Amino acid sequence: MTDTIVETVRTRMPARVVELKGVTKEYPGGVTALRGVGLTVMEGELLGIVGPSGSGKSTLLHIVGTLDRPTAGTVAIAGHDVSKLSDRALSALRSRHIGFVFQSFHLVPGISARDNVAEGLLYSGLPRGERRRRAAEALGRVGLGDRVHHKPHELSGGQKQRVAIARAVVGEPDLLLADEPTGALDTASGEAVMELLHDLNADGATIAVITHDHEIAASLPRQVRIRDGEVVADVWNTGRRPR
Ligand SMILES: Nc1ncnc2c1ncn2[C@@H]1O[C@H](COP(=O)(O)OP(=O)(O)OP(=O)(O)O)[C@@H](O)[C@H]1O
Ligand SMILES: [Mg+2]
Repeated sequence: MTDTIVETVRTRMPARVVELKGVTKEYPGGVTALRGVGLTVMEGELLGIVGPSGSGKSTLLHIVGTLDRPTAGTVAIAGHDVSKLSDRALSALRSRHIGFVFQSFHLVPGISARDNVAEGLLYSGLPRGERRRRAAEALGRVGLGDRVHHKPHELSGGQKQRVAIARAVVGEPDLLLADEPTGALDTASGEAVMELLHDLNADGATIAVITHDHEIAASLPRQVRIRDGEVVADVWNTGRRPR
């Protein structure tokens, strides 16, 4: 009986996907891009990171994504203390838990949309045929089921970004990080990309998205505002914390 209660409590408790404490980042040359940032992201959240140019948003996303290490402070991703991991263990953690989407897509030219998406499973240990099958499935999910054999130069900007999102989520990461995913897109394509992120979130993905666009930011459940390397506001648009 007691065990059942404990189990129920445990399954209801959302996991901390990201936990940053006192994170500072000094770049060589003397720029302090982050100053003592604390940030906790729970499983299933969709949050926006907003702030002026140069305020430290991309630096923060790189640190959350373990692409870079902080100068001081601690970073835990899915419960793993990043500072205790070797570079190799870190890239394993990254490939298993984190998906990235960048403003400029970063697709591999000359290979199909399907093979670009399959790159997201390169370190999964799955055989190539299975990687391709899942890639085609992920493309269907982002509405590009009829473009699997198209190469990046044969796709529109919005379609390229959807391929990049499919690549980021094909491995079912715990966390999807997007740095200005609509920055290079026209309004309609940007809206389609945001709708896709909302859908993925509704299906359970935890997503952090950097945006300059106030309208987009306002459409997200949570906004973390950054200025001069500090979190100056952390706002739930519903007016209350979801959990
Ligand atoms: N590799 C680097 N080496 C030195 N300084 C850097 C480096 N990357 C960023 N910076 C500096 O750190 C600060 C924060 O940069 P960051 O790229 O995080 O800003 P941002 O908020 O993403 O800006 P934007 O909205 O323009 O993309 C800036 O002052 C920038 O010049
Ligand atoms: Mg940036």
